[in-house]
Formats: sequence, C-alpha cells, structure tokens
Amino acid sequence: MTLPSTAKDFTVERTARPTSDADRAAALDNPKFGIKFSDHMVRMVWTDEDGWQSRVVEPYAPLQLDPASSVLHYANEIFEGLKAYKWADGSIWTFRPQANAERLQRSARRMALPEVSVEDFIGSIEALVQVDSEWVPTTPESSLYLRPFTIATDVFLGLRRPKRVEYLVIASPSGPYFAGGVKPVSIWVERDYHRAGPGGTGAAKCGGNYASSLMPMIEAGKRGFDQVMYLDAVTSDVVEELGGMNVFIVLKDGTVATPILNGNILEGVTRSSIIELLSERDYKVVERDITVSELREGIANGDVVEAFACGTAAIITPMGRLAGEDFDLTIGDGQPGEVTMSVRQQLTDIQYGRAEDTYGWMHRLA
Ligand SMILES: Cc1ncc(COP(=O)(O)O)c(C=O)c1O
Repeated sequence: MTLPSTAKDFTVERTARPTSDADRAAALDNPKFGIKFSDHMVRMVWTDEDGWQSRVVEPYAPLQLDPASSVLHYANEIFEGLKAYKWADGSIWTFRPQANAERLQRSARRMALPEVSVEDFIGSIEALVQVDSEWVPTTPESSLYLRPFTIATDVFLGLRRPKRVEYLVIASPSGPYFAGGVKPVSIWVERDYHRAGPGGTGAAKCGGNYASSLMPMIEAGKRGFDQVMYLDAVTSDVVEELGGMNVFIVLKDGTVATPILNGNILEGVTRSSIIELLSERDYKVVERDITVSELREGIANGDVVEAFACGTAAIITPMGRLAGEDFDLTIGDGQPGEVTMSVRQQLTDIQYGRAEDTYGWMHRLA
C-alpha cells in the first residue's frame, strides 16, 4: 500500500563497525525476542521552538541522558511495536503501519508529548529497515521487530509539558513466539490489581502501564499461570484485556465476541484485523462487555467453545485454561480451537506474503 513517507529526508550515518556476517548470522539464528539489536537506530529530536528536526539513521548506541531528564522521573514515554517480514522473493513488508502511527499519536496526546506525523513514522521505519535489511530473519514466523518510542528529554524536575523530546526506532530480530508449535496458555483472572481505570492511561501505549503490570504477572507466574487477565477497576467483573494482548471468545452459536473499547483497553491492530477477517467469513463479530460471570458459566456449560488472545508479538495465542480465586476451568478441550487456528493462519499468510492481501494492509519497506 502506498503511504506518505519522509524516508528520503533521513540522513544516514552508517556505523564504522558493522556486525560481521558471521555474528549477524548467529544473531538471526533462533533470535528469541528483544535480545539482539540491528546495527542502526533512528533518532529525531523535537524542541518547543523548532518542532521535529534532525531526521537521522545513526549507529545503534547507548543514549546519553541528563539525570534530570523528565522521562527518568515522570515516565513520559510512549511506544509502538510492529514487525518487518521478509517474503520468499526477498522483499520486506510491514503490516498496517498507519494504524501504529495513528495509535502513537493518540498515546502522545494523552501523555502531553508531541505527535510524530504519519509521514515521519512511516519514513523512519522505511529508512531504518532499508539500512538494516540484512537483519530481517527468514526462518518460519520470524521477523524484525520494530520498536518506535518517544521520550521526554527535557532537563527539568518540575512537572510540565516537555520542551525537548526524542523519537527513536530500534530493531530487534525476533523468532517464533511459540517455538515448537502453538500451545494454549493458562490465564489467571486478576481481581485485586488493575492495569487501567476510568480516565486513566489504559488506551495509551505508555511504559507505565507495563511497569505496573509486572507485579501481578510475577504473582500469577508463581501460581503457575502464563498470563494475567485484567478486569475493569469499578466492578472487577468486566473483562478488559491481558497485560499485552486483546481478548476474543468464540461461542457455540458462531458468535465471536471481544471487549468493546471502553477507554481503558489498548486498541490492538491485530484485534481490528481479526474483527474484519472473521466478519468477512460470516461470523457474527460483536464488540461488547464480557463479564467473568458470563465466561465462567459459558465455559462450564459449553457455550464458550474457544478463547484466544492477540497482539503483534504472538499474533494469536489460544487460551486453554482460565482460573481465579474460586474457579479453575478448561476452555473447550484445552487445545487450540478451529476458529483460533484458522484466523491465525489467515493473518500470518497475509503477513508473510503467502496469501493475497485483498485488504491493502501490507506496506513494502524494502
Ligand atoms: C496492552 C496491550 N493490549 C493489546 C495489544 C495488542 O496490540 P497490537 O495488536 O497492535 O499489537 C498490545 C500490544 O501492543 C498491548 O500492549
């Protein structure tokens, strides 16, 4: 899909010490997630007086930050996550980057940070991937994960709209989320801790949301669960989402339901793509409140036949078990369901260029 881009406006300062072919091959072999980084990164600087300036692709390196930088004290940080996929013919593509660009803008508005234009967002990832194109792995379900983020580098301990901000993009080769095949995850339904509340920052992709989700995640891990399901902060009964993924349930009558965007939930790009894909396949897809009471009853009496979580990192993750303080239920037969796996296949076929993209979702980067 043709999208506006300022890629040609980025100055490229190549590293004097590129990773050797052998070391890069080692980094691309079974890269896992978020451990290795490509040779370059993007940096744009914003000031109150001059707006965004200095669009640069430069060597990947530690940042020098003044200890009084606002982000270190008040967490004015927002980020995005999307992937670059190498197709069989060697071309490199990404999935619906405009949606990520627009979400970063919404996050920026909520966190009083300056917005990066869609053109600069698309331009920045094109410019980086064109320089580091050798860093996109080619093994099945692997990709180059792109992490654009904005931080307030204002050197000031007072709390104010920052006068100096940086936007960076780093890239990390990532392997399949499920090494050795898709496996259902177990979910702990958390009633005591919430990731978001009315009027809070749940719909923004800001670092603080994730920092506060760590402790409940660790507690759930100690109980033997893979992920935490968060509920609304008012009634502790309405399902919102997992710590980093949106939620869907499939009902016996062919209805597919997902929590309605209530201001606390992050609007996932994968979520909205699944809504479109399943609607076209004649499922009745509804966005509505889903309560834990409904889930418990539906799983127990067989009305809820499948449940899955979705997000850029794992694409679609089947849920096999749902438990809380006073219940422990197996969803369906505990194995990945048919709708779950078929929509997963449909989506990954589009992303990896194995199926025609009739939606105009794919955007060529290199
Ligand atoms: C809290 C949260 N919900 C949902 C998602 C899924 O969003 P997406 O499909 O755009 O990756 C993510 C990941 O970005 C997330 O962090």
